[in-house]
Amino acid sequence: MHIRILGAAAGGGFPQWNCNCPNCGGVRREELNARPRTQSSIAIRGADETAWTLVNASPDILAQLHANPQLQPGRAYRDTGIRNIVLTDSQIDHTTGLYMLREATKPWPLWCTDSAFDDLTTANPILQVLRRYCGVDRRRIDVAGEWFAVEGSEDLRWQAIALPGKPPPYSARTPQPGDVIGLLVEDLRTERRLCYAPGVAHIDSGLFELMCSSQCVLVDGTFWTDDELVRLGVSHKRAADMGHLSQTGGMIKWLDRLPATTRRVLIHINNTNPILVEDSPERALLSSHSIEVAYDGMEIVL
Ligand code: MLT
Ligand code: MN
Ligand code: ZN
Repeated sequence: MHIRILGAAAGGGFPQWNCNCPNCGGVRREELNARPRTQSSIAIRGADETAWTLVNASPDILAQLHANPQLQPGRAYRDTGIRNIVLTDSQIDHTTGLYMLREATKPWPLWCTDSAFDDLTTANPILQVLRRYCGVDRRRIDVAGEWFAVEGSEDLRWQAIALPGKPPPYSARTPQPGDVIGLLVEDLRTERRLCYAPGVAHIDSGLFELMCSSQCVLVDGTFWTDDELVRLGVSHKRAADMGHLSQTGGMIKWLDRLPATTRRVLIHINNTNPILVEDSPERALLSSHSIEVAYDGMEIVL
């Protein structure tokens, strides 16, 4: 299975347009050893090089497709290598790109939970709007743990992991299982697995077991500390309030407990996070724990 990181940053991207934190200001002025990153999205394929599944549709999708020409097989005047779209939640940074994909010539097979579908048809009715364009062919992701397969990639199987989290700030719903999911993706040919969880508020033994069963974990790297935004004075929200387990608040400790051969990669990194700076002490600490930091264009082959 091939995994392409289209965007490794959290909502806002890096640098964020209105942010002058040391990271955003520094990278904008080209004073920092740090790469800009677009907002959260990955693409996954099995054996067929022309059948990708887009996992989350970032507001930056057009730039991401431009930067990843392998997603454009060019077989017809109108074509795409994206066959399916899977959502892990209904957050703005994971769904706004659906608008940019409206020129599709047929309805998008769109896999999401009932919670996400509810948000995307009520509080943020993207899917209603898209009905007047390409439309979507909604496929239900069950949070009870049933495996599913997406069209065109029958050599991969997928399972949702209900994660602790919250509905997005725009949603008036009360929290329920399915608001945020992680994904286990298994290549049936090799039995190798990816565990993808760009937003996870805390890790329990169930999730940890699934992480242990995977050859690569691609997990929430949003914040270094729980009070990162509070300390910078840019928000009153702590990482935990936003559904993110910080690296120093427990993520590093959990990753340390994985089998030695598991590849550990952080993704969905907020622009304030010091690990974005390649020569920072925080980045060195991650390296000493064999933890990688995802970047746009990174390819993981499992
Ligand atoms: C989050 O996951 O908390 C988001 O990146 C927030 C956002 O999109 O504004
Ligand atoms: Mn996000
Ligand atoms: Zn910033």
